[in-house]
Amino acid sequence: EDAAEHKGYGKLILFGEHFVVYKKPALVGAVKAATVAEVELSDENTWSRGLIVEDARPAIPGYKDKKAGEMIESTRLVLKHFDLDSDKRGVKVILKGDLAPVSGIGASAANCVSVARALAAALGKDVDEDEINQAAYEGIDNTASTFGGVLRFQRTDGKPLFDKKKLPVEIPIVYASTGITASTTEVVGDVREKREKDAAWYEGLEKEYMEVFDAAEKAIEEGGEGLVKTFAELANRNHEILQKLSVSCKELDDLVETAKSAGALGAKMSGTGRGGLMFAICADEASQEAVAKALEGKAPQVWKTAFQ
Ligand code: PMV
Repeated sequence: EDAAEHKGYGKLILFGEHFVVYKKPALVGAVKAATVAEVELSDENTWSRGLIVEDARPAIPGYKDKKAGEMIESTRLVLKHFDLDSDKRGVKVILKGDLAPVSGIGASAANCVSVARALAAALGKDVDEDEINQAAYEGIDNTASTFGGVLRFQRTDGKPLFDKKKLPVEIPIVYASTGITASTTEVVGDVREKREKDAAWYEGLEKEYMEVFDAAEKAIEEGGEGLVKTFAELANRNHEILQKLSVSCKELDDLVETAKSAGALGAKMSGTGRGGLMFAICADEASQEAVAKALEGKAPQVWKTAFQ
């Protein structure tokens, strides 16, 4: 890999959305698709001061405009980490790469990580991965974005727990957007209400989920190529659990079925749900191609990448 490429990876929740809210562990997978940042700093008085962010990432209708303000703000926080004041020294950031900014893929964290890397390089600072991660601090997404691989994540009463894991093999995936963005706060709030009304129902689903999680963790520990198939089966099971939890929707279910009919080994929604993203696990590149084709007929946006 080109060391001068300042990358921040995207992420998808492999297993555990919603259950993670109630302190159950989740697995978050970094994808190979990444945002790549370039940074130019002005010398004293060579060009005007201030912060310019040029967004040359793949286009998602409506998304960039909606998030432009947030993007500038989070970029400013990264500058601040490096004690850089753009009122004193001009900073130009160019965002590129193959990661399309869609909600649920961790695009904002990928920005911050790639900018932190590019900025450190522009300042001639030798910073380690932990510092990049801190500079991009937003939560779980930035950790996946910085380190890649798979992350076991668990909220606690205090600091959340992170455990970095490495997959024994790459997992080819296709992921697709429903084109619908649901509010995480609303969906999480709705699950909370349902859980309060019927604790036994919730606990049953949580128990089913923990079987999936434990099997997934065991599969990573055991290693080997069989992991792809195991993860695919577990993705199918996790999707069914999320359907019962009422966080999937017709659009997601249709895409999951379409992917499976086209030969995917397994598929599930990922993230908040009731819209948002789904991913499909494929055996190889040919299958990935066929699944992507099938999904392209139904979903507004479809991408091929891999869990790394
Ligand atoms: O939609 P995303 O990728 O931001 O993930 C939300 C995950 C939830 O478990 C639904 C909420 C949370 O804060 O953990």
